[in-house]
Amino acid sequence: MPPSPPTVLLNQRQIAQRIEEMAQELAPQLTEEPVVVGLLKGAFVFTADLVRALSALGVKPLVDFLWVASYGQATTSPGVLQWHMEGHQPLQGRQVLLLDDILDSGNTLKRVTDSLKEKGVSHLLTAVMLDKPSRRSVPIQADCVGFCIPDGFVVGYGMDHGERHRQLPFIGLLEP
Ligand code: IMP
Ligand code: MG
Repeated sequence: MPPSPPTVLLNQRQIAQRIEEMAQELAPQLTEEPVVVGLLKGAFVFTADLVRALSALGVKPLVDFLWVASYGQATTSPGVLQWHMEGHQPLQGRQVLLLDDILDSGNTLKRVTDSLKEKGVSHLLTAVMLDKPSRRSVPIQADCVGFCIPDGFVVGYGMDHGERHRQLPFIGLLEP
């Protein structure tokens, strides 16, 4: 049997509205030229949407990406990360807004925030599109959360399962 297609958990309209709200929440906390750092690959769509919403509010971010891959083909985290931390913007003394698609166990966000602090980031804010609080194994929270969702594997809006479904404009739930 072919795998069943993802079912819609959050549609395009809900996502677009929440992105506007997140930008309004974040903009007053940001300098005019923060460095926005997206985590590849999952946060590429979230980053693209959020920087455009921030732009409408007068923020002019420098945009960079870091490559942090985990999971491979599986739907549970083995805790293995592929780690490429060299971005292109100098971060020393800068304000950084770090973006990820999902906050799950918390390992990724913890490791990346620790590493950015070591690089001398002066003021760090974190935002995630989705949060699965029930899955947390490291005590960490994001400063700004799009939606809290129950445990379940989601795809679309940049997120994948075995590299598939990233292109979907909605956030969908995969059947276990
Ligand atoms: P953590 O390190 O366990 O918090 O995992 C965070 C990373 O795992 C995210 O950046 C995602 O790339 C990936 N991830 C966690 N849950 C899901 C999911 O439901 N769908 C797709 N990717 C996920
Ligand atoms: Mg990721």
